[in-house]
Amino acid sequence: MEEFVVVKALEDGVNVIGLTRGSDTRFHHSEKLDKDEVMIAQFTEHTSAVKVRGKAVIQTSHGEMTNE
Ligand code: TRP
Repeated sequence: MEEFVVVKALEDGVNVIGLTRGSDTRFHHSEKLDKDEVMIAQFTEHTSAVKVRGKAVIQTSHGEMTNE
């Protein structure tokens, strides 16, 4: 079972960016969230890292954090 990441936007225009798995690490998807929108995403065969740009609450199995 792959891990989930939950991102709740605390402001408009938060970007949740997926980065590719493998030797070539690049952005492959960017999802824009407005305030109070929530995105639930998994780490997959294609996605090894997630970058969050903008103020948000982020939950993973490692805990909850905010970048506010
Ligand atoms: N097609 C992508 C994938 O299967 C979708 C995706 C999964 C994604 N997790 C993500 C996109 C996290 C952005 C951030 O890997």
